[in-house]
Amino acid sequence: MGIVWCSPAGAGPVSVSHLVGACGAHSRNPHVRAIHYIDPRGAERFRDAICNYLRTARGVKCESDQILVVSGSQQALDITARVLLDPGNSVWVEEPGYSLERIVLKAAGCRITPVPVDQEGMMVSVGVKRAPRARAAFVTPSHQYPLGSTMSASRRIQLLNWAQSAGAWIIEDDYDSEYRYESLPVASMHGLDINSRVIYIGTFSKVLFPSLRLGYLVFPATWWSALSRFATRWTFPGLSSSGSTGRFHQRGALYAAYPKDAPGL
Ligand SMILES: Cc1ncc(COP(=O)(O)O)c(C=O)c1O
Repeated sequence: MGIVWCSPAGAGPVSVSHLVGACGAHSRNPHVRAIHYIDPRGAERFRDAICNYLRTARGVKCESDQILVVSGSQQALDITARVLLDPGNSVWVEEPGYSLERIVLKAAGCRITPVPVDQEGMMVSVGVKRAPRARAAFVTPSHQYPLGSTMSASRRIQLLNWAQSAGAWIIEDDYDSEYRYESLPVASMHGLDINSRVIYIGTFSKVLFPSLRLGYLVFPATWWSALSRFATRWTFPGLSSSGSTGRFHQRGALYAAYPKDAPGL
């Protein structure tokens, strides 16, 4: 079977050669539409599949038009910083937190405000004391990186209320929420947000494999004109990765189980 990859939700192992083989099979036999320039947000069917998954499994309130397919969370963070932040803007980041996120924010010229994390997640009251008018807060509410806590409901509400009152944005990095072995997944913060202050970032790096470099950004509907400046210029994931991952989606792989007949993917 070769190298074995653990699938999410304990659904059993799947061989890496099946995953990589599916990418290859898709590239060898593409639909004619797939070899042309596609929508810069990503192929429509793929965005539809991601949208269905996010609504059903993560409680994200989105339409597929609000999804931008990108090269992993790293690119999603970079695009978010370019669209949202100006040099000198203060941003809250979790302390301890994800170092690659800080690299992106420093490159964007932001003033980074580390906000400590306890067992309930980011300590919003400390953030408010340190930088009340910050432009954004970057958080991992489902599974704090690296401490592993889940942000409590009261902290989520506190953070959403702060964002609304300060005119700030929350960037929810939901990088590995698929992995829950002992309890039901906690829905996304995006689903709790009634004021469109949350930008949601997801990735296939954990649920499939990181060298795919495939992720997505769920942006507020009003952002498309600002985003399209980047989306039309940048190189987005191509046929082999996004096409074959779309097939995984359609076969229900991300609804918690890889199909038993994985060789036929
Ligand atoms: C907090 C966090 N976000 C995102 C990712 C995944 O990043 P990418 O999608 O760029 O592979 C990781 C990977 O370890 C991570 O720790």
